[in-house]
Amino acid sequence: MEDQNPHRAADSSRADARQMSDRTRFAADDAPRMWGNPAHATALVVVVDLDDLRRATTCRMLAAEPAVAEIRSARSSAQAGESLRNARLVLLSDGPDRADLPAMMAAVREQNPTVPIVVTADSSEPEVVRRALEQGATSLVISGGDPQSFSDTVAAALRGRAVLDTAIVRPVIGRYAALLDEARRRDSAVIESLAAAVEAKDTVTSRHLQAVRSLATQLASLVEPSLARSEDFSYGCVLHDVGKIGVPERILSKPGPLDADEWTVMRLHPETGVRVIDPLGMSDTVREVVLYHHERWDGQGYPYRLSDEGIPLSARIFSVCDALEAMTATRPYRAPLPAGEAYRRVVAEAGQQFDPGVVEALQEGVGSGEIELFAELAPAR
Ligand SMILES: [Fe+2]
Repeated sequence: MEDQNPHRAADSSRADARQMSDRTRFAADDAPRMWGNPAHATALVVVVDLDDLRRATTCRMLAAEPAVAEIRSARSSAQAGESLRNARLVLLSDGPDRADLPAMMAAVREQNPTVPIVVTADSSEPEVVRRALEQGATSLVISGGDPQSFSDTVAAALRGRAVLDTAIVRPVIGRYAALLDEARRRDSAVIESLAAAVEAKDTVTSRHLQAVRSLATQLASLVEPSLARSEDFSYGCVLHDVGKIGVPERILSKPGPLDADEWTVMRLHPETGVRVIDPLGMSDTVREVVLYHHERWDGQGYPYRLSDEGIPLSARIFSVCDALEAMTATRPYRAPLPAGEAYRRVVAEAGQQFDPGVVEALQEGVGSGEIELFAELAPAR
């Protein structure tokens, strides 16, 4: 029957507090510590933590868990000894110098290969969370953190399930999102500077790269929208001629048509290009544009004489835009063609130089205004 006497209830609370205090002190002793919970609970949970205060805090929070029958605490996995073998759950601190965690987890696994291990940590720093999960922890809790979160994590771990509080996960995701953004910005800067280096060497006007990228994105959105949204396709467009870094300037800026030997050198630039970008670990889409942008639908292009759909779609789209831009650009040996004339010539090459489906999309896009051909190909200043 429930005790209605407030004085006795207060005494009882003090007794509980004393008992918990005893437990805390005991937990700091050198011997493994054990105490019991209600009879219907069945789980033995072992707490291994070198830090006395944190270990006591963890034990106190565990004591409130209805499924926990016994809690044994120890300063090290060696001290926990045999109790690890029967544990249904182990709470393991990653230690003050944090380098101990792999060895501590290995020691637990040696005694009990399948027991869920929840790491108790002082913070949810992304590096702490990453290390714990990498080492095979089921989950992670913050010592002295939100009791409900602790309870949910322990209850789930006892069922062999992993629960990670959003307060723990969010900083990790935020950190890696920031790293990804930083890497993207760096990649983008490297790509732009590589492309600019080639452009500076080539005689093509500074309009070239931006115009051809913009046109190609507009055309891709009508042919294969996923390409138009792809950062990699955009990278391929600006890097397409990166291999010209290997072509002598006397050929690049020759004030007249190239002879056969010069063409032989010029035709190497797609393959040189992929050698330049391969160490950057670029995607297949980037490689495709760089390597195949001079292939022709009729198989008369270079470097591999691929034909029709044997040429990747990204390169088929890009080559149309590259040709449009090239014809309307100023060259040392000829005046630029008007955009309308360049467009007419590209349309005439459908099924020969260019994929007829891509040219059809170009015509539709120019007709509907979705492709701003004349604005993009306006004479460079
Ligand atoms: Fe090229």
